[in-house]
Amino acid sequence: MKTTAKEAKARILRHQRIGADSFRLRLRCPEIARLAQPGQFIMLRVSEQSDPFLRRPFSFSRVFPPGGKMKRTEEDGILEICYKVVGRGTSLMTKLQEGQQLHVLGPLGNGFWAAQGRKQAILIGGGIGIAPLIPWAEKLQRGRAQDRTFRNLNEPSAVVVLIGGESRDKILGVKEFKKLDLEPQISTEDGSLGVPGMATDLLERELMTRGHVSVALYACGPMPMLAKVAQIADQFDLPCQVLLEARMACGMGACLGCAVKVREEDSLKNSQHAPPDAAEERILCTSAFAGGETGASSESFVQDVSQPPAFRYARACKEGPVFESREIIWE
Ligand SMILES: Cc1cc2nc3c(=O)[nH]c(=O)nc-3n(C[C@H](O)[C@H](O)[C@H](O)COP(=O)(O)OP(=O)(O)OC[C@H]3O[C@@H](n4cnc5c(N)ncnc54)[C@H](O)[C@@H]3O)c2cc1C
Ligand code: FES
Repeated sequence: MKTTAKEAKARILRHQRIGADSFRLRLRCPEIARLAQPGQFIMLRVSEQSDPFLRRPFSFSRVFPPGGKMKRTEEDGILEICYKVVGRGTSLMTKLQEGQQLHVLGPLGNGFWAAQGRKQAILIGGGIGIAPLIPWAEKLQRGRAQDRTFRNLNEPSAVVVLIGGESRDKILGVKEFKKLDLEPQISTEDGSLGVPGMATDLLERELMTRGHVSVALYACGPMPMLAKVAQIADQFDLPCQVLLEARMACGMGACLGCAVKVREEDSLKNSQHAPPDAAEERILCTSAFAGGETGASSESFVQDVSQPPAFRYARACKEGPVFESREIIWE
């Protein structure tokens, strides 16, 4: 579904620490909450000052649209984001106070879409990457009862959640998934919670023990994890969507700061898994822009299996941030 991004002011209702280096911000912003879809994001100005100049992108971790189901005492039109402190912008965010107003732009990008005809959805999140999978799990769970798009997900264990992190205090989202009647499987690299290892180990185990005939994968996390998920998806021939947290400057398609290398083929048009609007957002870059020598349009490339795949650059903020994993050139 195509939505128009809005500039809005959002009031901070709650700001909590949720993990060793992670926080949750609950914002009242009915204009954006009305439109927001799982996998889309906002660009958030982290301070009232002009420094840092650039807004920072964050995925929705919960959305309560206006008029939705809230306790009578609570306000609606709410967005939540979860963030991990990694640098200057996110460090400044830890100082934000409840009641303060923030400038936000959104909803932006293309979110997750239902893989057609699949009976099981496996959601794989690494660290803070679990955040956008919470509203997607909610949509899948609710949709199973209400929406034709999700009617294939009719088995009791149709939605499976796998969460990975470095250690116990970096595992996020468990409570939220339990509220959705989902029992996430957990792995930690140091073995302090769940199965020792990586979320991708859980995925391989799940596919080998429970079968994989009608499975679709949805993943968000660090790039090496996503590359491994994509490789597993190829190995088992499964449709797989990945949310790429590419570095972004404008978030609106104007700067090419979020360019992602993708295969140059009609995969979007032909793929039954592609979101309906994504094809319109494609940009065909010349090979000169892509580092080639001829300057010819990449449209003129002819696929040659002995050569590396022809590629173009996609703007993650417009065509993504959710992509079909087979589209991405993982380097
Ligand atoms: C669509 C999208 C959704 C996102 N959703 C979330 C979310 O829900 N929660 C969350 O915590 N983060 C999310 N991110 C990443 C988040 O935007 C960055 O962590 C944040 O902008 C870093 O800002 P900073 O000023 O603290 O870091 P900077 O000072 O800009 O950078 C600090 C360090 O972090 C690295 N870094 C910065 N941005 C990224 C990035 N996008 N990916 C990988 N490394 C990066 C830099 O290379 C540097 O090493 C998302 C990014 C995108 C594009
Ligand atoms: S961030 Fe500017 S084009 Fe995507």
